[in-house]
Amino acid sequence: MAKVTFRISRFNPDTDSAPRYQDYPFELEPGITLLNCLNRIRAEQDPSLAYRMSCGSAICGSCAMRVHGHALLACKTQASQLVKNGVIRIDPLGNMKVIRDLVVDLEPFWASLRKVKPWLMPDALDNPEKERQQTQAQFHLIDDVTTCILCAACYSDCNVLEVDPQFYGPATLAKGHRFIFDSRDARKDDRLEAVSELHGVWDCTHCGECSTRCPTETKPLARIEETREAAIRAGVTNNNGARHALGFRETVGKSGRLNENYLPARSVGFFNIPALIGLMPVGIRMFMRGKNPPLIHHSIDKVAEVRRVFSKFEEYRK
Ligand code: SF4
Ligand code: SF4
Ligand code: FES
Repeated sequence: MAKVTFRISRFNPDTDSAPRYQDYPFELEPGITLLNCLNRIRAEQDPSLAYRMSCGSAICGSCAMRVHGHALLACKTQASQLVKNGVIRIDPLGNMKVIRDLVVDLEPFWASLRKVKPWLMPDALDNPEKERQQTQAQFHLIDDVTTCILCAACYSDCNVLEVDPQFYGPATLAKGHRFIFDSRDARKDDRLEAVSELHGVWDCTHCGECSTRCPTETKPLARIEETREAAIRAGVTNNNGARHALGFRETVGKSGRLNENYLPARSVGFFNIPALIGLMPVGIRMFMRGKNPPLIHHSIDKVAEVRRVFSKFEEYRK
């Protein structure tokens, strides 16, 4: 058995002004999960330690926490894989307020989920007496995303949520996808419109952290990309994100180069005078600091290859 130290973030709102770390010595036996280590620490050393758990089987989603700064599911992770220099450092999930020790206030996560109306809205004319069936192929479209256990690990580690708490977040956008792609739902277009608005699918920066941290097969980033594609195919393009993506494709597809002078106006809309005026201070600041893109693009190597890749892609897409 290896001797390790559990360094756990503690916070009691009645006595602490800020979180602090407390160390617990521990004899790590092979095969023990992180959650069972915490259970033993609470039973044998400190009954005041607070954290959430229920199923112990990676089903209920309640035991997500951060270890060495990254979110994971405590009941699904072997503790021995987490030791760094003899220490396992545990913090509560990020992007949410700490209530006590490792327990966070999940309300912003639930509030975000409610934005995508996460329930089936079938056609009102459907026969309610008849079962709504799906083919295997139809179910395959939503198979991965139905594995989400709402643990909020992705919400904790999403970089956009750190700077924009209004961002829907990966789990919510994955849940939106689940109903957009469900053959039994009748509100696909409304749903696509809703998630294409500000703080929705187009605000994701593709960092991939959500898919890396997710303990299930949900792969939120892949679901966000599929939703964006579905929105463009359905003609939901009257928004900054879709215009930006289309503008990107236009300029790179035509010239092999990204026209950064064209893209901001294309994204907000050429006739959107208030938004264009809103861009001016940024443009002026960039100009003053010599950061504005050149009017005539520098030549770049293999530009013809970029164009060729793009046209192949367009052929494939059609
Ligand atoms: S890929 Fe997008 S949704 Fe996922 S963590 Fe990064 S910014 Fe957030
Ligand atoms: S998408 Fe993955 S990480 Fe996010 S809540 Fe669902 S299961 Fe957890
Ligand atoms: S305790 Fe239920 S998912 Fe870990």
